[in-house]
Amino acid sequence: MQVSHNYSLKTHNTFGFDVLAEHFTRSANVAELQRALAWAKSRQLPVFILGAGSNSVFTADVAGLVIQMDFRQLEFLAPNRTGAAVIAGAGVDWHWLVQQCLQKQRYGLENLALIPGSAGAAPIQNIGAYGRELSDFLTAVEILDRTTGDVRLLNHEQCLLGYRDSLFKSDQGRDLIVLAIHLNLAVQDKPLCHYASLAQSLDSAGIDNPDSQTVFEHVCAIRRQKLPDPAEIGNAGSFFKNPVVSADQLKSLLSNHPEAPHYPQNDGCHKIAAGWLIEKAGWKGYRRDRVGVHADQALVLVNHGGGSGQQIATLAADIQRDIEQKFHIALEAEPGIY
Ligand code: EPU
Repeated sequence: MQVSHNYSLKTHNTFGFDVLAEHFTRSANVAELQRALAWAKSRQLPVFILGAGSNSVFTADVAGLVIQMDFRQLEFLAPNRTGAAVIAGAGVDWHWLVQQCLQKQRYGLENLALIPGSAGAAPIQNIGAYGRELSDFLTAVEILDRTTGDVRLLNHEQCLLGYRDSLFKSDQGRDLIVLAIHLNLAVQDKPLCHYASLAQSLDSAGIDNPDSQTVFEHVCAIRRQKLPDPAEIGNAGSFFKNPVVSADQLKSLLSNHPEAPHYPQNDGCHKIAAGWLIEKAGWKGYRRDRVGVHADQALVLVNHGGGSGQQIATLAADIQRDIEQKFHIALEAEPGIY
């Protein structure tokens, strides 16, 4: 097992923060992962499991052992009555997986194109975009339980998937390491394109009945237009979740701001567009030191280069306080802040 010491994580987090891992290693299979965990245990070191670092904000150097998940297996199973299974290792790049599925005529993931990160991170925050969520396709997650050392499969229900939420974000799930995800994809090319900006994009190109490849291309184009590419400007996608409020809270917001975008949920609550709240409060395009709020999508905080996780965390806290004061709505950060 190869371990690096005082290893820079700058290229291992999409914000590009230059923090050090006290110790760093990669694991490509269960045996390697077990060896790495044992190495840390024998030295009484904490362990930090890292994917592609697209949902982590490092405010300081990371003590203990950082294990980067490098499981790269990808299996396409033969179709059955309900679709076709695909199994992807935790270290598989998400966007590459979306492309491979389309090439193999496995459909559904096209709405989730260009989401930065790895397949193993996808169930943790139940990634979602343009009318689809991972939970629409996820049948099981293979995990290693750090408390017992067991490797087992959790089914869809056991993963407790919600809006940008899952078992893996909760206290009960914190010791579970995602090894691989199991998806059930469609074999018929019938894309979903009702999401407002996607429907508009297809409409303005005069496309009535798009195939999944066309939806993939439009999703990529919309994302490239609105969202900064982490390879150019450090970011972790949406920094805040869209808040879900009660009918009374929505009524009070709309009495002052009838134009506020809102979306009904199944339980009588309403989702509010956090990007709209942040823009309305005047933060869009705001810059402080080396960090700021993206000029084209206020939900995304950015590192203009040379910024720190501490600066981002302070900016995020200031935005949360301001939104609370102006709209009486609490914004919850989406990435993990360490
Ligand atoms: N809006 C503004 N100002 C902004 C941003 C958005 O007024 O600066 C308004 C838009 O005009 C629209 C509404 O807010 O009326 C929703 O905007 P958009 O469709 O861009 O989606 P979003 O709610 O801002 C969510 C996800 C994104 C995902 C898009 C598309 C969350 C936290 N974010 O953003 O996911 O790509 O929908 O489905 O749910 C991510 O999680 O990292 C991410 C990028």
